[in-house]
Amino acid sequence: MEQEKVIVIDFGGQYNQLVARRVRECQVYCEIYSYRTPIDEIKAMNPKGIILTGGPNSCYEEGAPTYTKELFELGIPVLGLCYGAQLMNHILGGKVEKAPVREYGKTETIIDGGKDSLFAGVEDSTIVWMSHFDYISQPAPGFEILAHTADCPVAADANEEKKLYAIQFHPEVLHTVRGKEILFNFVRNICGCAGDWRMDSFAEKAVEEIRAKVGDGKVLLALSGGVDSSVLAALLAKAIGKQLTCVFVDHGLLRKNEGDEVEGVFGANGSFDINFVRVNAAERYYAKLAGVSEPERKRKIIGEEFIRVFEEEAKKIGKVDFLAQGTIYPDVVESGLGGESAVIKSHHNVGGLPDYVDFKEIIEPLRNLFKDEVRKVGLELGLPEYLVFRQPFPGPGLGIRIIGEVTAEKVRMVQDADYIYREEVDKAAKAYKDEHGVEAPWMPNQYFAALTNMRSVGVMGDERTYDYAVAVRAVRTIDFMTAEAAEIPFEVLQTVMSRIINEVRGVNRVMYDLTSKPPGTIELE
Ligand code: XMP
Repeated sequence: MEQEKVIVIDFGGQYNQLVARRVRECQVYCEIYSYRTPIDEIKAMNPKGIILTGGPNSCYEEGAPTYTKELFELGIPVLGLCYGAQLMNHILGGKVEKAPVREYGKTETIIDGGKDSLFAGVEDSTIVWMSHFDYISQPAPGFEILAHTADCPVAADANEEKKLYAIQFHPEVLHTVRGKEILFNFVRNICGCAGDWRMDSFAEKAVEEIRAKVGDGKVLLALSGGVDSSVLAALLAKAIGKQLTCVFVDHGLLRKNEGDEVEGVFGANGSFDINFVRVNAAERYYAKLAGVSEPERKRKIIGEEFIRVFEEEAKKIGKVDFLAQGTIYPDVVESGLGGESAVIKSHHNVGGLPDYVDFKEIIEPLRNLFKDEVRKVGLELGLPEYLVFRQPFPGPGLGIRIIGEVTAEKVRMVQDADYIYREEVDKAAKAYKDEHGVEAPWMPNQYFAALTNMRSVGVMGDERTYDYAVAVRAVRTIDFMTAEAAEIPFEVLQTVMSRIINEVRGVNRVMYDLTSKPPGTIELE
């Protein structure tokens, strides 16, 4: 049976992935496509509903992103949000212009209509999240105003007969108090989606699909130990067992104990019946990195060496039928294949494919899932929590958290310091949660230690030292594109400082990195 779905057409707004997330939370499957996607392709997907997102442009300006009017004549319900709302009214003959007053932030909105449809269950006065310069000054013919605010005469309007709805605010943002209900009303009631998309059915379905596709073929996976490739390995293990070979390249730049942890889960003594190959390539990497201190050069060497090592292993295995990749939905969207708000990260681990690994086809079973959905699948497949809730860790690993030249000795220092730091932050966070019943307000989204390239004088006992400084970093961020330093309690930092200096040979100074992103980056490389 065909999976019912809603299509999000992306006009470049910042919350667009959130829209898809929220729709999925209504148990309705949803995908994002750029506004450049031709209407025939959209039609062929047979969507039950279409959502037009926000975007940074003014729809009445020349060259602004637009869409063919035909979209509104398909008989498929359409919901426009912010820019999408303005565009819908503009295309259908309404008027959009610069608003006399810009609205931004939480705004009281009065609901005037749609109380049996889009705004069913929403109070007459409700708080919504606004962010716009332009406004709909005149609804399109056939449209009726459904909501207004003090500064915005058309906070929502609709042609209910044709099931066309336009909302100036952002229901996908949590500050919109009834946002979830409004989206639910649209996808479940107006579009009539049954709501049979369930994460727990994902694994089962994926296993069946993988079996059908792979048959008795062989699959090769480069396992990094990160969340995505680990969940993929567990899924493939369940689907095809020994037909899967995982190659895990330990480049000697992993966090302390990480290589052994990955081997513990996926290796011969782990709980999966697969072929697991661990390549201990640390020496090889250190040799290549000797004397190199320029960060981009280090990244390049590490990336290239990975391909070489992986190729050598793949050759030993011989012909495989499929190469599995842990691509997830944000990767697809970010690399411009899906939506419009393409933020192409040069450092994303798309280092290219090994040229001469001999395979027929790539399989990417996680390519439609968001990160937290991937995590749910991982837990369901029995992966340990520490693996499933791992922090992001860069592909080039500690190689870029050591400023300047990488040596085995420096890797040891940064591994040990990082281990202590994470242990103390985790301990303090747990204590806070146990005491208050909620997560600590300072809980960082990413925290790690880096080794600076600075040595300075200190005293240890009666001895003069001339040792390295460690920088500890903790950031709070939602999207990892912007970040602020987290306010880790001072006593935690003090404990970290004294433990690192006492326990990590070669380090005599600890600094806390306060830099925001921008102008900094999260990694210290
Ligand atoms: P920056 O340092 O660019 O990092 O502010 C943003 C986020 O991306 C992670 N990061 C990487 N992730 N491969 C990755 O998969 C990489 O090469 C890489 N470099 C940085 C970083 O840890 C942070 O979460």
